[in-house]
Order: sequence, then C-alpha cells, then structure tokens
Amino acid sequence: MSILKRHQILERSPTLLFVFSFLVVTIGGIVEIAPLFYLENTIEEVDGVRPYTPLELAGRDVYVREGCYVCHSQMIRPMRDEVERYGHYSLAAESMYDHPFQWGSKRTGPDLARVGGRYSDAWQVDHLNDPQSVVPESIMPKYAFLNDAKLNPDHITDLVKTHRLVGVPYSDEMIENAKADFKAQADPDSDWDGLVERYPGAVVSNFDGQDALTEMDALVAYLQMLGTMVDFSTFTPEASR
Ligand code: HEC
Repeated sequence: MSILKRHQILERSPTLLFVFSFLVVTIGGIVEIAPLFYLENTIEEVDGVRPYTPLELAGRDVYVREGCYVCHSQMIRPMRDEVERYGHYSLAAESMYDHPFQWGSKRTGPDLARVGGRYSDAWQVDHLNDPQSVVPESIMPKYAFLNDAKLNPDHITDLVKTHRLVGVPYSDEMIENAKADFKAQADPDSDWDGLVERYPGAVVSNFDGQDALTEMDALVAYLQMLGTMVDFSTFTPEASR
C-alpha cells in the first residue's frame, strides 16, 4: 500500500485523525516547550539596559494612555529591510523592564523602538503639537494638550515602587530619590548628577521649553530614551561569543 493510501485511512476516520493529530501536536509541544523549563532565564542580559527614570516612566504611562501603540510598534525584526530602516534589531533585554511591553502589532506610523536621539527635543514637541507642521502628509493626531497637562509628582514614588513590585530592580536609593529625580530630569539648571549616576545615559533637558513640568516633558523624555541604552558598537550576541 502506498503511503498516500495509508494516509487515506487516517483522513477517512475522524477518530483516528484526531488521535494522530493530538500525537503530532503533543510531540511538537514537548520539543518546543520542555527546554524552557531548564533555562534559568530566556532573556540574555545586555550591558546598558537600566530601569526607566521616573520621568521616562511617567512618559511611558502617557504613551500607553494615549494609545500610541495602536499606530506604532516598538520591535525591529531581524530582517534586512527593517534593520536598514530602523537600526539594529530589537533585543529582548531592551524591553525587559516594560510592564506591559509595547511591541505592538500595527504600524500605521513607523516603528519607534530606536527613535531616541533621532530628532531634537524641539522637533518632537513640534511634531506632537501638530504633526502636519513637520510632516505635511502625516495622519497622526495632534497632542498639543500635553503642554497644558501639568504633572503631579505626588504619585511618582508609588509608580516606581509598583514597578519594583513586578520585578524591575529599582534600588532603595532610586525610590528615595524618585521625586527629586523626576523634577531634575526636566530642569538642566538643577543638580542632576545623582540622577545620571543612578540612571546612566539619562537625557536631562527642558524638553518642552516651559517652566512647568508637563506630560509633554515626560513623553519626550521617554521617546528620546527609546533604543539608546545598548551600545551596538560593542555588543555581541551571547551565541556568537
Ligand atoms: C493614527 C495613528 C497614529 C497615532 C495614534 C500616533 N501616531 Fe505617531 N505617527 C503616525 C504616522 C502615520 C507617522 C508618520 C508621519 C509623521 O512623522 O507624522 C507617525 C510618526 C511619529 C513619530 C516620528 C517617527 C519617525 O521615525 O519619524 C513619532 C516620534 C511619533 N509618531 C510618536 C507618536 C506618539 C508619542 C504617539 C502617542 C502620543 C503617536 N505617535 C500616536 C501615526 C500615529
């Protein structure tokens, strides 16, 4: 009997087909899932990745609240067209402190995983105020109201503590200084040495150019950090070390 004929027996009996499909899925499942139980960590730790500063964390909350993820992904796939357009493909470690992650599944606008540092703060603010003023054909909505939304620093310590609760390694020192760091990052005239020591590479700037600390400051601080933590001139994946 040819193999096709034998397969016909399976195809004609619902019970046999079910039993054999179940077997195939079970074997496939074990092969894929079982090794995960023997790995201590599925995320390769990478130098440079640090928890978000309190201001970046607040900006991230604005990003989530405004649904930016509905139009923007934050995951560069390891394919040539993506890497040429956006830069090095995203590493798992780069979103290890994201709760919830912002990979997204829709790209109405471009991927934002490495948008940090690509534009000036002023460009980011202009673009968020009125995207069509800098990209005339843009269909992105305007977010100018973020300039008027003052940030209340009272809850920032709780926000940082909550992220520690779900596993982000914020130290006691980071939590003690959360409120001060929150304000210092948007005020270049303040004493921000401690902030940069606690969060290496944090960008200190009066992001929106206003005296008051606003949601615009926080969102731009967050955007300017995206994808900048890992130094790809020295990074080599563990597998090729
Ligand atoms: C309706 C879909 C939509 C939403 C919602 C949206 N965007 Fe956009 N975004 C776009 C499109 C389309 C572009 C490309 C044109 C442009 O630059 O404006 C873009 C571009 C951008 C860029 C420039 C990226 C680059 O590499 O040039 C940034 C930064 C950005 N958006 C941030 C945001 C943020 C932050 C939010 C949430 C506050 C947001 N977007 C919400 C559609 C959207």
